Amino acid sequence: MIRAVVRKVERVHGGSVLGFHDAWRGVMDDDWEPLDVQRCRGILPRGGTILGTSRVQPYQFPDGVEKVHAAMQHHELDGFVVVGGDGSLSAARDLQVDGINCVGVPKTIDNDIAATEMTFGFDTAVHVATAAIDRLHTTAEAHDRVMVVEVMGRGAGHIAVRAGIAGGSTMTLIPEVPFDIGEVCEALQRRHAGLSYASIVVVAEGATPIPGTMAEPQYEIDRFGHRRLGGISQRLAEEIEGRTDIETRVTILGHIQRGGTPTAFDRVLATRYGVAAADAAADGAWGQMVALQADHIVRVPLAEATRASKQVDLDLYDEVARPFFAS
Ligand code: F6P
Repeated sequence: MIRAVVRKVERVHGGSVLGFHDAWRGVMDDDWEPLDVQRCRGILPRGGTILGTSRVQPYQFPDGVEKVHAAMQHHELDGFVVVGGDGSLSAARDLQVDGINCVGVPKTIDNDIAATEMTFGFDTAVHVATAAIDRLHTTAEAHDRVMVVEVMGRGAGHIAVRAGIAGGSTMTLIPEVPFDIGEVCEALQRRHAGLSYASIVVVAEGATPIPGTMAEPQYEIDRFGHRRLGGISQRLAEEIEGRTDIETRVTILGHIQRGGTPTAFDRVLATRYGVAAADAAADGAWGQMVALQADHIVRVPLAEATRASKQVDLDLYDEVARPFFAS
């Protein structure tokens, strides 16, 4: 994405690009580096970012927005290309209202940004999770176990649903649909009493039981006030083993899903988004986010993209993921 912005600006539009380190933290601390085509050589196949990142946002500080204005004036910037998920894009939306020009680029493995069909990073995460599920089938089958695999997905179960379908999971539990632990255990018991002795349960980290049916993990709160998720699979496995007596094991994929070599799809998408973001900046189309719709890159207002998070299509869940529920 960074490489594409830099190339399009340098080779086509003219002008220069600065890269701020650790996102808004670098803008507020005036910590940056010049970016040119040479600096961006070799980064296409690398995951992550050469600039570093942080969850710091200007609105967390009384003088944060003032500092961003000061950076704009000092460096004579036309505006910012803001790359990230809901937190970063919501800040970009508010900064735009406060007179700071921003173009948004949707990037999160969760794929939960509205008005775009895909965020970049998501396809790679689904590939990693699917490959892990493929490997977990081996132990599930050899030992007649239930293997619970926890994937990321804070408020939306996109990774879980896609990887669950692709990996042939026995059942997939997502934040959008609170699960009934009784139903989960009965289905597994039926399955293990029959011809199938191996089960893969995919659970999104943000999945919750129907309130009052099972104890939930206690989550810590990080320094930005977000719940530090991770652990629902452990609780689920304890309940499954306790209620069914079927041996159950847990794998939490965690940040493995968020790193390493991006898929070709993500590289293409990130490149298309970068080119489109540079074009939007050159056109003065501030306050917009670049988005993928029907394989075209379009511009949508940041306000529209951040109104609500994109949830799993429940038709897809009901039609494709649920029919296989423990069958
Ligand atoms: O980027 C969103 C996300 O991938 C969530 O799915 C997950 O809960 C969170 O990041 C983890 O963040 P951190 O790296 O701060 O623990």
